[in-house]
Amino acid sequence: MADVIDAVFDAIADAAPEVRAGLPDHRATRDDQNASGDTQLEADVWADDLLFDRTESIEGVNWYASEERDAVVTVGDAEGGYAVALDPLDGSSNVKSNNPCGTVVGVYDQPLPAPGSSLVAAGFVLYGPTTTMVVARDDTVREYLVSETGATTDLGPVELPADPTVYGFGGRVPDWPPAFESFVRDVEDDLKLRYGGAMIADVNQVLVYGGVFGYPGLESAPDGKLRAQFEALPIAYIVETAGGASSDGTQSLLDVAPTRLHERTPTFVGTDDVIAALDAALPDHTN
Ligand code: AHG
Ligand code: MN
Ligand code: MN
Repeated sequence: MADVIDAVFDAIADAAPEVRAGLPDHRATRDDQNASGDTQLEADVWADDLLFDRTESIEGVNWYASEERDAVVTVGDAEGGYAVALDPLDGSSNVKSNNPCGTVVGVYDQPLPAPGSSLVAAGFVLYGPTTTMVVARDDTVREYLVSETGATTDLGPVELPADPTVYGFGGRVPDWPPAFESFVRDVEDDLKLRYGGAMIADVNQVLVYGGVFGYPGLESAPDGKLRAQFEALPIAYIVETAGGASSDGTQSLLDVAPTRLHERTPTFVGTDDVIAALDAALPDHTN
């Protein structure tokens, strides 16, 4: 089999300009909800259909799943084939406010739902002032500029800075468990708040400046908001490959083994010292 991972990310980069160009015409909210119970935007479904079309026929891709589809779609039967799990449009609520959003990609070497340990590659496209793609594979993270034709320019390796600078945590403060809130009160003494409502934009700030991003388990929703298969595990793979750490409050997110395709998990990624301090601050590991 040709390099399937290359073929997947070539297809994602090739589609990225079309996803970006289509956002203005797909800002409306649909009446439907996705399997996670989130209200869907036209852009969510449209991006999902486009990315499915671009990846489902890649030799070596056996399964396609996304945040916007209830079930996994079998698209191949190659020996040793991979599963592609997408958040087609991450931060879609940012489209209306013209703030950054993106696409999250996880490539697993077994059928879904699959554990973080079965990721063989992960990446994201960030629709910001420029369109960039970050890809983690073979123990390396690299960033690419994506042109309007989908051509990529390698911008070099991505490594988390040793010193943390920024932090950003989702959820409403009154809904944070007390142990987590007191941890954040310590963090905010040293770091600058950067939270923009799109996980991949906030995580990219952590990759560039060092620090921590997370969406904790809440009093009202102990598993938090982010989907393990499509958001938390791929982002953890990227940040850990870049030299950082991840946690669900008890363990590396790469040790998480979802049993349901759309299950959520408390999610923290960032500079290893900060993640270690977070884990220590949640002694009974409830967050
Ligand atoms: P999506 O648009 O794919 O549903 O993802 C949105 C997620 C994530 O991108 C972001 O970190 C988080 O939702 C923001 O949640 P709040 O609006 O509750 O802050
Ligand atoms: Mn998302
Ligand atoms: Mn999404």
